Amino acid sequence: MNDKDYSCDFLIIGGGIAGLSAALEASKHGKVILLTKGKIGESATEKAQGGIAAAIDQPRDSTEYHFEDTIAAGAGLCNEKAVRVLVTEGVDRAKELIEMGARFDRAETEAGGGFALALEGAHKRRRILHAGDETGKEIEKTLGRRIVNENKVTIHQGMMGIDLLMEDKKCAGALALDSLSGAVKSYRARATLIATGGVCQLYLYTTNPAFATGDGIAMAYRAGAAVTDMEFVQFHPTALVQFKQFEDIVALPRFLISEAVRGEGGVLLNNKGERFMEKYHVKLELAPRDIVSRAIVQEMKATDSDHVFLSLKGIDAEKIKHRFPMIYKTCLERGLDITKDNIPVAPAAHYFMGGIKTDIDGRTNLPGLYAAGECASTGVHGANRLASNSLLEGLVFGRRAAVAAKQPTTNNQQLTTNESATILCKPRFKDFEIQRYKLIIKTAMWNGAGIIRSQESLSSASRKLELIEKDLVYPAGSLDELELKNMLLTAKLITRAALDRQESRGAHYRTDFPKQDDNWKRNLIYKNS
Ligand code: SIN
Repeated sequence: MNDKDYSCDFLIIGGGIAGLSAALEASKHGKVILLTKGKIGESATEKAQGGIAAAIDQPRDSTEYHFEDTIAAGAGLCNEKAVRVLVTEGVDRAKELIEMGARFDRAETEAGGGFALALEGAHKRRRILHAGDETGKEIEKTLGRRIVNENKVTIHQGMMGIDLLMEDKKCAGALALDSLSGAVKSYRARATLIATGGVCQLYLYTTNPAFATGDGIAMAYRAGAAVTDMEFVQFHPTALVQFKQFEDIVALPRFLISEAVRGEGGVLLNNKGERFMEKYHVKLELAPRDIVSRAIVQEMKATDSDHVFLSLKGIDAEKIKHRFPMIYKTCLERGLDITKDNIPVAPAAHYFMGGIKTDIDGRTNLPGLYAAGECASTGVHGANRLASNSLLEGLVFGRRAAVAAKQPTTNNQQLTTNESATILCKPRFKDFEIQRYKLIIKTAMWNGAGIIRSQESLSSASRKLELIEKDLVYPAGSLDELELKNMLLTAKLITRAALDRQESRGAHYRTDFPKQDDNWKRNLIYKNS
């Protein structure tokens, strides 16, 4: 073994909420190495504003109500067993976070255990624990602090997973690229957990950080893991729209205006200043996300605009500043005083319901390989995730995967390096060429496989992806080239699944099959043959 070879019991790839929860649990049972693509703390978790849903306010709320809301949002495709686990264990995990010192906003009354619980779309009760509008950051800090204090997890930052090491169809670890030195390192592990987050950087407009390029999903698929529900991408209704022409060129993430703002009374207005959600759903601005996003797209089209407005005029100015300090400050820095000005917003790709197919313990079809969080698909969200169930998912299923992975599956001593794993060669493309290819993917996906799709739009996206695939047949030679290949592969899988599903359900809406059709009440599963 040299300084490029590491060995551990548990290799965890990804440092968001699922990876950190798994690391804390796994470190009770063996040696853990955790790889993060950027610096620790740089993840979609850190950007999560709204909060974490848990039925802690009992008996006013109940896990049964939370179960019903999750199932209803999932449009007939939720795995009920997974939902049951999420809502029941979720209460315990949320309480543990509080015991670990997570500072969620408090209320003046004793209701809700003394916590100021928020309401978000499609929840029938106030059940969202939040830390101002920076809940993800608070949770990440809490878990990170515990990991640092316990000092049992080895963290390697700036490491991007390249490919899984496979031995006799079993996962034996992974190869990773050190983004600073360019060295390829080998990590041997008894159990490998992918917790690399989502894919929404595949879209031109997204709330997701630059890291969300589908790396873990692509890596698992290449190795033979099954992926599922790839057609279900959630578009958040309200991302800030500014400098659109500039955004089109550089494809920066759009700043999220949390759903909790609508939960506190924010209303949507079209470009003519008319409130419009009553035309679309009885729950108005708090309808399920897919419905609000499509309603916004329709209103933008009808008024020939690239945005609608979110008005906070019905909310007390002091409450806005107190409840949404980060949103208030960020908008102010960008020239908008949200206590007075309407906020220009439009939908943006936000969350991926599909991913590496796992059971409720994070097991994939490959022995030794586990997945949890946004990159995994337990079926817990069905065709459309309920607001604020994503942090909860990472917390619950990250830990469960680590518990399951402590059972021995392979013997580390007998493993050898898989020669067929990706070998990095010299980078082939210049930076601007890579950015150009990425932009082609993002534009094709936004226009063809976005909020509203059809056979025609999806086929057009597919053709664009095929065209650039011909240029990208070479082995990747840098982190950016790896990302590009991963983006291309996951984009192809999403497009293929969206073409295959000939109905509309949850976040997947096709104009040529506008109705839900229960012949399609099943999950589409894909495997690299
Ligand atoms: C939000 O704050 O609106 C995002 C929360 C989520 O995606 O569940």
